Amino acid sequence: MKNLIPSYVRVPALFFIISGLIEFFVDSGDKPAFIEYPIIMLFLVLVLFILIAIEGIVGAIENVLFQSLDDAGKARYIANTSKTPQFNKLKALYAKLKGDEKPIEEEHEIILDHNYDGIKELDNNLPPWWLYSWYASMVFAAVYLFNFHVIGTSDTQYDELEKEYAQAKIDIAEYKKTAKNLVDVNTVELLTEASDLQIGKQIYTDNCVACHMADGGGGIGPNLTDKYWILGGDIKSVFKTISEGGRSGKGMIAWKKDLKPLEMAQVASYVLTMQNITPANPKDPEGDLWEANSAE
Ligand code: HEC
Repeated sequence: MKNLIPSYVRVPALFFIISGLIEFFVDSGDKPAFIEYPIIMLFLVLVLFILIAIEGIVGAIENVLFQSLDDAGKARYIANTSKTPQFNKLKALYAKLKGDEKPIEEEHEIILDHNYDGIKELDNNLPPWWLYSWYASMVFAAVYLFNFHVIGTSDTQYDELEKEYAQAKIDIAEYKKTAKNLVDVNTVELLTEASDLQIGKQIYTDNCVACHMADGGGGIGPNLTDKYWILGGDIKSVFKTISEGGRSGKGMIAWKKDLKPLEMAQVASYVLTMQNITPANPKDPEGDLWEANSAE
């Protein structure tokens, strides 16, 4: 039996088919699978080695068998191999796909009778590869149209996009839940869960009452229960004041060394709930009325 395809074609071809299949089946996001998962690179290298090894073994076996033939057998074998032209099937397939062209001598039979400044046109048969690709694309289009737009069982690209958006929103919410500690002044949001506010209250009691009073009425520090703010009364401004401190020399230190980002977000959120408290000895308002500003 003679191999139709030589090994220097067979090995790369098999290798690329295997790599392609892996790429197709392994979900590796934007990056190629063998970069995302280095183990796949290792696997592919192994595959390549094994393919080469198999070729080597097959070649060696053939050689041994050849040596075991008697002289007449060897002669017959050599005659056989040199007679068998390589790529016969491929060549036949190529000829079939290309279709037959008229030889130049017969071209006058198919020439069309118009003439554009000396450029003439031949009425050749359409090449089969072209014609059948065209038929295939028509079948594909019909199936596609029916599938996506008539019965609508498959998602169109718009549907896919919408689903991915929805999923991304869920993922982001999920991520934020586990990554609360990553907040900074740009991403901080008002926390409303009772557990967060409870912790915020505890932090306030431990660190802030000396200057702001337990009921937020103010002392050394300003009244936190009124609508007047020196440094801004939204969650981002309050977070920033706690994190970076107040104006220098006023006594409000930067807490970012002592409190974690999440803790600052919790106490800032708690401070904003104090707007509902009516303190026993409220300090006079300082700063600007925030509601007027908050529209900005
Ligand atoms: C040593 C006293 C002191 C302590 C302790 C203190 N503060 Fe202050 N706080 C001040 C002073 C003074 C100001 C005014 C800063 C300014 O005028 O720039 C202030 C301002 C603030 C403001 C801004 C008020 C506004 O009108 O803009 C917030 C919010 C605040 N503090 C929250 C806290 C929180 C939360 C804590 C505890 C983690 C805390 N403070 C601990 C003294 C203190």
